[in-house]
Amino acid sequence: MGILFSAPQAEYDIIREQWLADVAQIGRQGVFVGGARVSKFESAWASYLDAGAAIGVGNGTDALFLALKALGIGPGDEVITAANTFVATASAIHHTGATPVLVDCSDGYLMDLADVRAAVTARTRAVIPVHLYGQLIDLAEWKAWSEERGIALVEDCAQAAGASLRGKAAGSWGVMGCFSFYPDKNLGALGDGGAVVTSSPEMAGRLRKLRNHGGEARYQHELPGFNSRLDPIQASALHCKLAYLDEWNAHRRSAAGWYRSHLAGVSELTLPGPVEPDDSSHVFHLYVVRVGGGRRDELRRQLQKKGILTAVQYPVPVHLLPAYAGLGYGPGSFPRAERYAAEILSLPMHAALQERDVAAIGAEIQSFFAASPVPGRS
Ligand SMILES: Cc1ncc(COP(=O)(O)O)c(C=O)c1O
Repeated sequence: MGILFSAPQAEYDIIREQWLADVAQIGRQGVFVGGARVSKFESAWASYLDAGAAIGVGNGTDALFLALKALGIGPGDEVITAANTFVATASAIHHTGATPVLVDCSDGYLMDLADVRAAVTARTRAVIPVHLYGQLIDLAEWKAWSEERGIALVEDCAQAAGASLRGKAAGSWGVMGCFSFYPDKNLGALGDGGAVVTSSPEMAGRLRKLRNHGGEARYQHELPGFNSRLDPIQASALHCKLAYLDEWNAHRRSAAGWYRSHLAGVSELTLPGPVEPDDSSHVFHLYVVRVGGGRRDELRRQLQKKGILTAVQYPVPVHLLPAYAGLGYGPGSFPRAERYAAEILSLPMHAALQERDVAAIGAEIQSFFAASPVPGRS
């Protein structure tokens, strides 16, 4: 038996013919950077999200970095984000020259507005809520608060493509929403890619310049810019996959439901809360459980022996990484993020996962704990 953790290959198989035909055409036309394919995908993505514009960039990290640069954020400024995010959220802030200010997560792994408010100083210019694991943070109150305070709301939607709440998509709540199209994301390219979406024409204009050496027209450099563009070969793959995004996200939610039934009664695990099949506020980029009794790594090894691939997102919170030791936090600064980092385990989750796979994973986990239950738990 072998069960993949994620399955970008299966998605590739679905779009292969259409995409390869398009790549052949790109080759014949010789337009390998920019061009109509990129702008067509950008329009399709913006209209799918009901956002004003999408600006394709090189990857999700650049999307965050360029969004902050478009706001003019730099040295002396502070940007608040989560301690329990992928390091890229913090590194995007760091590379603007601003200081990342971190907050702990709540029980459901997401940031809490109360913690953000408590972290605000006179230097706070922006806050980056992270829709971690595909779970949309309800930003209604955040939006009102941030507008009142003049603090920019920039969403990290890398893990939440296609998530929406009360009809409003991840990425359309803040002044900008930043996406990663890394291949195993819910909407993944066949290489690196990213986008910023915004309904601010001013931000869209700045981003189009920043990503392209500071100007939209050749040799007219209006700003000191960067080179970070989505290429047509990736834009084509993304456009092919966009047609399947809702179906694949619904499949992921079904898989989460299968996990709930096949892991029912395993008291050593803390499962994600139940999500109705039609509740698109969670798109289960990852299916993350917590393993009690200090046995996460042992369970992981056991599953690996049985050919079941798992991951840990993320084993070390940002503030305990050597790269960010200089921020001045330490062990104990963010107790939930630290405790969860030692307990979380991401089980296989992807659009090709079958119920029989989930049943097999459930059976392995049940038998692992039946063989030696966590002391003190029934
Ligand atoms: C939460 C989060 N933010 C940012 C990124 C960075 O995206 P990329 O890998 O495309 O640079 C990722 C993806 O890896 C992510 O998961």
